[in-house]
Amino acid sequence: MHRVTLIPGDGIGPSIAESTRSVIEASGAKIDWEVHQAGMAGIDQFKDPLPKETLESIAKNKVALKGPLTTPVGMGFRSVNVALRKEFDLYINLRPAKSIEGVNTAFKDVDLIVFRENTEEFYAGIEHYIDAKKSAAETIGVVTRTGSDRIVRAAFEYAREHKRKMVTIVHKANIMKYTSGLFLDVGREVAREFPDIECNDRIIDNMAMQLVTRPQQFDLIVTTNLFGDILSDLCSGLVGGLGLAPGANIGYDAAIFEAVHGSAPDIAGKDLANPSAMILAGAMMLDYIGELEAAKRVRDSVALVLKEGKKLTRDLSPNRYVGTREFAETVVEKIKSFGKN
Ligand code: NAI
Ligand code: MG
Repeated sequence: MHRVTLIPGDGIGPSIAESTRSVIEASGAKIDWEVHQAGMAGIDQFKDPLPKETLESIAKNKVALKGPLTTPVGMGFRSVNVALRKEFDLYINLRPAKSIEGVNTAFKDVDLIVFRENTEEFYAGIEHYIDAKKSAAETIGVVTRTGSDRIVRAAFEYAREHKRKMVTIVHKANIMKYTSGLFLDVGREVAREFPDIECNDRIIDNMAMQLVTRPQQFDLIVTTNLFGDILSDLCSGLVGGLGLAPGANIGYDAAIFEAVHGSAPDIAGKDLANPSAMILAGAMMLDYIGELEAAKRVRDSVALVLKEGKKLTRDLSPNRYVGTREFAETVVEKIKSFGKN
């Protein structure tokens, strides 16, 4: 039995978390869920977007599955997602984007992994107005040698372990010569320790263009926090959109699994969300805790339901679609049918 902290989250969170839980339960993995709140749900219940109980539960269990959390734009509380990544030093944000049979997209055979640095630079929250009149504002993005080294190293180690051939370092070192320059320098140094893996680099703007014209030329991408955030949404768009894109936040001692997408307030409470991204994040979690067969069953069942294409959510099939719940039930039926064959 594995104990895992489950944070349902805001907006579409509770419904996709429920879907994910039902699929994981049907996968055969034995999970003891400890449900805790954060974000708006934390404020509602405890007047705190990151309640102490939630932090303690993650600290104890070391593994969490998390729905999306709403962060107010502009003023209001700071991002709880960022706070969680900082608190547990989850320096790796790993976001795969792979073409799925049956999902209609502009490209075939896309198979990308984004490694995003998850604790530094413009997300560290070092920002302020320079005066009371708010005449200017500044954000300080600190990039460290240690922070760059550990994320690039993690990317190369992953590449070696998973038989990936090439790592592309993405930067803007032509303009941000110090921060992005440091990241690129350290990246190249680390690359020399992995002669078996090809390494190249791209400037972010060119990278964005190349990804939407010929994404198949890339394999594994490693980059700083802000570029990684943007590129991972872009990469999800290449393979069918945010409804299909899972992610993992991994540190030395703990990991939090979640979808790449946010709380989708535009469709919250309407039974329209695609739970696949969070279900697939659940599969990444199962891999992490060593439940490899259950993880495979989860992935295979989602893939089969998508391939059959009879019951798809609205993001994938706008004219004829089923709701979140029915989609999840279809995946659960599929996973249960595996055992009977
Ligand atoms: P979003 O990712 O929530 O939504 C962007 C678009 O994608 C919307 O049109 C939405 O309906 C659609 N979408 C997202 N997930 C979907 C799904 N599973 N199925 C079908 N359609 C889906 O991004 P947005 O609107 O910019 O952010 C909303 C809130 O989420 C903000 O408060 C933001 O801070 C937060 N957020 C939280 C994240 C997290 O918890 N890790 C990540 C990204 C945003
Ligand atoms: Mg994002």
